[in-house]
Amino acid sequence: MPPILKKHFHKKQFGDVLGYNSGIGLIGPPLMTAWCYLIDGVLIDSGIRHLRSAILEAVREDKPDAMLITHHHEDHSGNVGAIRNALGIPAFAHPLTVDKMRAPFKIRPYQHLMWGQTEPVALAVHASVHEFGKSRFRPIHTPGHSQDHTVYLEENRGYLFSGDLFLGERIKFFRADETMGDQLASLKSVLRLDFDVLFCAHRPLMQNGKQALRNKLDFLENFCGTIQGLKDQGMSLKAVVRHLDRHEDRLVKWLTLKNACFANMVRSAYTMEQRAI
Ligand SMILES: [Fe+2]
Repeated sequence: MPPILKKHFHKKQFGDVLGYNSGIGLIGPPLMTAWCYLIDGVLIDSGIRHLRSAILEAVREDKPDAMLITHHHEDHSGNVGAIRNALGIPAFAHPLTVDKMRAPFKIRPYQHLMWGQTEPVALAVHASVHEFGKSRFRPIHTPGHSQDHTVYLEENRGYLFSGDLFLGERIKFFRADETMGDQLASLKSVLRLDFDVLFCAHRPLMQNGKQALRNKLDFLENFCGTIQGLKDQGMSLKAVVRHLDRHEDRLVKWLTLKNACFANMVRSAYTMEQRAI
């Protein structure tokens, strides 16, 4: 990690859930932070690698018994192997995450800079339900943000540990590998579940979490409807991007060398089967 970057780490209690927040920045607040959450001895996600020493210190103090991982992205999986080795605890994930993390995979320069590379690790495939203390965690496969993306519903309290399914109600960009049709289907399947608290990995919502996810679905459906309407009028993909672009993705697009940008979001909606809306 370049020495001019500053590390940020803090813990915060959300009722009976303890959050660890990690991120890096230049001056002032970090560019982007990621939360992992500890409840009933279960740590959901593992923080970024650049903050490994702080996270290892925290878990040595708080002593989780197991980990659940939402997906392979570095801001979620960054310390899973290190925590497992330090504490000797199991880590569970979706079979696609297990496969992906078995061997090293390439990441882009901005991912190295922001989070750091996750080492290969042998994870265990999650069960249909994991019971720990007063908690029952049900994994639900929710592809779209990444193909392995999985959320965990804590059924006894109505908490949804949503990884990157939410992020915000009005999304401004997609990564190149995100798929709109899968995201819509995943949001619809999760909205059938019973929960209200949303432990998003970047923006926890202690109330009205389900409504926030519903608002995101509405926003994406309207967005897709607009794109498909312009496509039906004969507008090319390039013309649609130009027509709708508010340039709100400028910083992210520049930082990620176009891996995350508004044009990816338009392309995914433009090429999607219409029946997915
Ligand atoms: Fe992600």
